[in-house]
Amino acid sequence: MKQGIDSAQATPTKQFFVSMLTRDIKLEDAILDLIDNCLDGALRLGDGGKPDYSRYLVQITLAKDHFSIEDNCGGIPRDVAKNYAFKMGREPNDNRDSDTETIGMYGVGMKRAIFKMGRNAIVKTRHGTDTYEVPITAAWLDATSWDPLPINEPTEATEKLEAPGTTIYVSDLNEGVARHFANPAFVNEVTTAISQHFTMFLQWGLKIEINGESVQPVHVEVLVSPREDGPAPYVFRKTTGDVTVSITVGLNTSRRSEGDDSDDDADFAGQRASATAGWTVLCNDRAVIVGDKSRLTGWGDLPLVPLYHPQFAVITGIIEFRAKDAKKLPVTTTKRALDASSELWLESLVKMKEGMRVWISYTNDWKNHPRADQQIYWHDAQPLSLSKAIDKVASRTSAKKTKTRDDAGEMSEVVEFNPKKNNVLPKPEQKKPSSRRIVFSRPVEEIRAVSRMLFDDPDVKAGTVGDECFKIQLELVKPSKKRRS
Ligand SMILES: Nc1ncnc2c1ncn2[C@@H]1O[C@H](COP(=O)(O)OP(=O)(O)OP(=O)(O)O)[C@@H](O)[C@H]1O
Ligand SMILES: [Mg+2]
Repeated sequence: MKQGIDSAQATPTKQFFVSMLTRDIKLEDAILDLIDNCLDGALRLGDGGKPDYSRYLVQITLAKDHFSIEDNCGGIPRDVAKNYAFKMGREPNDNRDSDTETIGMYGVGMKRAIFKMGRNAIVKTRHGTDTYEVPITAAWLDATSWDPLPINEPTEATEKLEAPGTTIYVSDLNEGVARHFANPAFVNEVTTAISQHFTMFLQWGLKIEINGESVQPVHVEVLVSPREDGPAPYVFRKTTGDVTVSITVGLNTSRRSEGDDSDDDADFAGQRASATAGWTVLCNDRAVIVGDKSRLTGWGDLPLVPLYHPQFAVITGIIEFRAKDAKKLPVTTTKRALDASSELWLESLVKMKEGMRVWISYTNDWKNHPRADQQIYWHDAQPLSLSKAIDKVASRTSAKKTKTRDDAGEMSEVVEFNPKKNNVLPKPEQKKPSSRRIVFSRPVEEIRAVSRMLFDDPDVKAGTVGDECFKIQLELVKPSKKRRS
């Protein structure tokens, strides 16, 4: 067919684009996206290894009339700003991060966060000594064309950034957003989300402040004894290609479950409390899920794993996925939720349940025993994060280490340790045979008759008469018992 001279417009309208882009993301998650960018910035500054996160600071302000986030994570190089950073979506040829475990992959996070919050924004950045600003204004948003955004040189009136880094300032907040930012409950929610999601980075020294208050990390840890034969968590780690899955399931340091009638307030094994029972899922060091106790992570997958209930509050599972190519991680496009249908997740779930089973049986074994009896075995156990726990357990001679080649010829390295199979879990001492009451009624005259026969007295108490009858009968049983053995 001959091509005509007319053509049909096929560009998206800005209004449509912005409303679609921001519809499904929660405000908190949009803010977390901006922190992800700071951390990616810090990673890019490094030499491929883990950066020294204690050098980095992210300051966030949530106010009723503006939002701001300020970091010292290296800034945006000018050519990146010109060609990539402000585009709506990543270019296929953008392979800047193929060698680092950055989380950015779609090329929308920063823009989506800005549009979610308000109608005027300025991205100010300093990379090396080069400082510039990119405004995204209401006028640009309202215009029908997709004109490029200006890159403005700093004027004397605009202050220069003290250190290489980026500041994003958003004003003309959308109505609902302004209300949220003025609400202390929302500020708390964001704080909690950050303390969970970025717990690893915070533990490595990263500082994040919200309205001047620094955010503290939640600790997700399992107890590991330093002794070769001491109690240790279940461990599984498999590296195939550039994807590593690490799993540990063990006891946490929380108070024992409900139904534990000991009244001491000390934490289990005398350690700091961690309120993170259930499963925590990490992807490239971000905690996508913290303390999940639902079907998602295998709870209630009968008959192997029962539904979560307070007896299991001592059990913590941690699973981590690492990959240089963030697309291989089992997360949804918002990066804050698990893609539970991914092959990688389903495969891992088998091992997660194997680990859970160990500790479900353990808590069953100890259910009716005082907590102090257990503590003797755990006195030297340390609460450790996933990677430290795995390293510690892997250093035991009894940990299984294998290398295999799969059908496709890819090498896999596996580290495995099952505390039950390795016999390092304490068991409660066998109880003495328990007693039962025997209760029955007989006519008074018959009891008196037997009483006279046994005790030469018709008035001995009925219980004593019955007891004596049982003893006589038992004597008759014993010799036959001996014969059998
Ligand atoms: N605080 C920051 N420090 C350094 N670079 C940044 C910062 N914020 C954004 N950038 C740059 O801007 C680019 C675009 O960020 P944006 O969040 O929109 O997309 P992305 O991070 O590439 O992908 P995703 O949509 O998955 O987050 C980033 O790739 C990064 O180069
Ligand atoms: Mg991003």
